[in-house]
Amino acid sequence: MLTRRGFVAACAAPPLAAVAAPAAYHRLREVLADAAQDPRGPASFARDEDFWREIQMAFPVDRSLTNLNNGGVSPSPSVVHDQYEHRLRVSNDAPPYHMWRVLAPNRETVRTQLANAVGCDREELAFTRNASESLMICQHGIDLVAGDEVLTSDQDYPRMQMAFEQRRRRHGIVIRRVELPVPCVDDDDVVRRFAAAIGERTRLLLLSHVINLTGQVLPVARVCALARERGVRTIVDGAHAIAHLPFAIRELGCDHYGSSLHKWLFAPIGTGLLYTKKERIAETWPLLSARQDQDGDIRKFEEIGTHPVAPALGVAEALAFHQGLGAERKLARLVYLRDRWIDALRGDARVRLHTDLTPGRAGAIATVQIEGVPSAALVKHLWQRHRILTALIAHPRFEGVRVSPSVYTTLAEIDRFVEAVHAVLRDGLPS
Ligand SMILES: Cc1ncc(COP(=O)(O)O)c(C=O)c1O
Repeated sequence: MLTRRGFVAACAAPPLAAVAAPAAYHRLREVLADAAQDPRGPASFARDEDFWREIQMAFPVDRSLTNLNNGGVSPSPSVVHDQYEHRLRVSNDAPPYHMWRVLAPNRETVRTQLANAVGCDREELAFTRNASESLMICQHGIDLVAGDEVLTSDQDYPRMQMAFEQRRRRHGIVIRRVELPVPCVDDDDVVRRFAAAIGERTRLLLLSHVINLTGQVLPVARVCALARERGVRTIVDGAHAIAHLPFAIRELGCDHYGSSLHKWLFAPIGTGLLYTKKERIAETWPLLSARQDQDGDIRKFEEIGTHPVAPALGVAEALAFHQGLGAERKLARLVYLRDRWIDALRGDARVRLHTDLTPGRAGAIATVQIEGVPSAALVKHLWQRHRILTALIAHPRFEGVRVSPSVYTTLAEIDRFVEAVHAVLRDGLPS
């Protein structure tokens, strides 16, 4: 957990002229610093409404609607967003000087901070613009020949499946998909399914750390260990896992890990990370070409031409905010909010949950289906009648409404969602 001095230093060191720090920042620093001294465990802290009210107010969000789709993309707290805007303005002064010479070198200190936070070596960590970019670097950058097999599941993110589909059309690779149960209640079963699907020609395995359809957490370390034993390289899609679940990338034992930072880290929109194990860097082609002398350098994946520096630097303030909350406390609050709506709806036999909520197997995200009510119509109704944002899940084997609150979500907002669904259970959807 961040100390008072650490948080103040992280949020009060702008690159050039100081951003005017409103009184609200000072208040937030005090609240987080007090929290750092608080001896209570995460579960008890998760119920401290005085603390979470301060966090709710730290996000300059539009409360005229209820955003329960934080799994899609998240707003940043003001301490992150203001600094990001400040750096954009600074960049615009004389971009070749202010952006390239003044701001850009600071990426290296942010790289170190981020590597320490996610549990890997800084020389194994590249900044990207999102998880899609991180994962596609690996999906397209690893040599495969016609007939080589890649293994995924039937619940991986559509864009990542599309990347392999393109490679199939282009290079003749073979795609095999493991079917995963919904809800996914048994880790042994998941590992067995992957074990049974690995064959002689399997070269690459892509799996989600957190499945976007249901929020289910997969036993990634076990599947990666299995793949390693069989000589199969692994790419983990961690779009939803960074700053949502407490873990260290190095403990997963994967070869590659890609994540967005504009979801659960609350970093500026357009930020992601790519971890690539040191010995795999030279074996992975960048999506955009780099010089040969960069072959073994993780920064070759950042050679994308001129682009704004402000988003990646904003990761520094996002980390300070995240560490101020504390990873365990943040997850406990997210689970508390999730359980509030689920406990309120669960009594009705028509409510089917597609997410197993066993501790460690899900965080903020869960997906619900109301039998007899088409999920698409429910999502539309929630938005049109109540201005509640949720995400429609439509999979060939199941459908539902994905609900993902965040640390800034109020209890009243959760209750508004519950009341709206109760009304549908009672009266059906309006015709
Ligand atoms: C599992 C998963 N992978 C990858 C992505 C792509 O993330 P982004 O759009 O930030 O690149 C998402 C987006 O929601 C996702 O849920």
